[in-house]
Amino acid sequence: MSNFSDFQLGVYLEGILGQAPTMPFTFSELEAQAQEAVVPDLWDYVAGGAGDEHTQQGNVAAFERLGIRPRMLVGAGQRDQSVDLFGMSLPSPVFMAPIGVLGVLSSDGHGDIAAAKAAAATGVPLVGSTLMQDPLEEVAANLGQTPGMFQLYTPNDRELAVSLISRAESAGYRALVVTLDTWTLGYRPRDLRHGTFPQLGGAGLANYTSDEVFLRRLPAERRDDPAAAVEQWAGVFGNPTLSWADLDWLRGSTSLPLILKGICAAEDVRQARDAGVDGIYCSNHGGRQAASAPALTFLPEVVAAAGDLPVLFDSGVRSGVDIVKALALGATAVGIGRPYGYGAALGATDGIVHVLKSLLAEMDLTMALNGYASITELHPDILLPVP
Ligand SMILES: Cc1cc2nc3c(=O)[nH]c(=O)nc-3n(C[C@H](O)[C@H](O)[C@H](O)COP(=O)(O)O)c2cc1C
Repeated sequence: MSNFSDFQLGVYLEGILGQAPTMPFTFSELEAQAQEAVVPDLWDYVAGGAGDEHTQQGNVAAFERLGIRPRMLVGAGQRDQSVDLFGMSLPSPVFMAPIGVLGVLSSDGHGDIAAAKAAAATGVPLVGSTLMQDPLEEVAANLGQTPGMFQLYTPNDRELAVSLISRAESAGYRALVVTLDTWTLGYRPRDLRHGTFPQLGGAGLANYTSDEVFLRRLPAERRDDPAAAVEQWAGVFGNPTLSWADLDWLRGSTSLPLILKGICAAEDVRQARDAGVDGIYCSNHGGRQAASAPALTFLPEVVAAAGDLPVLFDSGVRSGVDIVKALALGATAVGIGRPYGYGAALGATDGIVHVLKSLLAEMDLTMALNGYASITELHPDILLPVP
């Protein structure tokens, strides 16, 4: 049982000692300060999304439209947010969602390692992206005692896919999250306006350029040529023909728990279950891929179809209150996306730790003050629509 709200007390104690906080405590301030810290095209890549961006705005608005029914005098003085997920004992049901440009977004240029260190410091697991700035083995070496998960963008080259998966297994990642919604890129006007895309500039390709299979595909004389790596990456990254028929192969290629990310429909959950997956990850990729899939609205149907399978959720979580609402709608664990990325932009590991501790403290206090001592008490009927 962790007292995440102690973080707030710590801030006040430091204040008494004359140490004023340097990091923000609301998402809007975090966002504004992060924007100052990041060059405009990278900022637009991270903050922007698909089309008119109504989907990502809708993700946030969907949380705002829900209220929590408060209960008094029910003894919520101690809270228990611990959860068992795929054999991992976690102090909270919160994790860091994969962010492909974390490496360059971070103020130290090594954001994946910064996030791994933040995971070690907070117990919040990291789902490391395929698109890392440092190889997945080096990232795993910084996770401390906190388990990590590896996210796979399945390349159109099966040997390369298997190589990445087996490297993740050997490096000690505890689950494989396969992202299904990014077999090609969403329509992103902000990136189009700049005419830039980070990976095409070479960002986040360390897992490819450290991979024997990937390197073997490059002509010998171009193995050290970054432009050749980018060309090769652009050719293998997406897999438009990946289908449910390939799930048997994916399932058979790893002994790790297998989780499918990007599921928003009950019928897809049923297919995933039939394919023997271990978890469902309901997400609309933060409104960056398919526009207009309201992930939070779909969460209850996904949870119902998932039965006893754990359901991970992300998209639009901006506060500890949002975490509680997603849990009440049936999520087993809740992913933080842009907020911790912005923390990385402000202060690498320290920035991420600050964001995570703030979110955990707010989650804890939301449960405390609304009278819910355990996440097992969070059900849909504690929520009500707010006009
Ligand atoms: C800059 C950025 C990069 C991302 N890269 C990845 C990625 O490499 N793999 C992946 O599965 N999802 C990726 N995502 C999606 C996140 O995992 C998550 O679904 C999303 O950020 C949730 O929305 P939110 O940030 O608005 O809360 C990325 C999101 C952002 C903002």
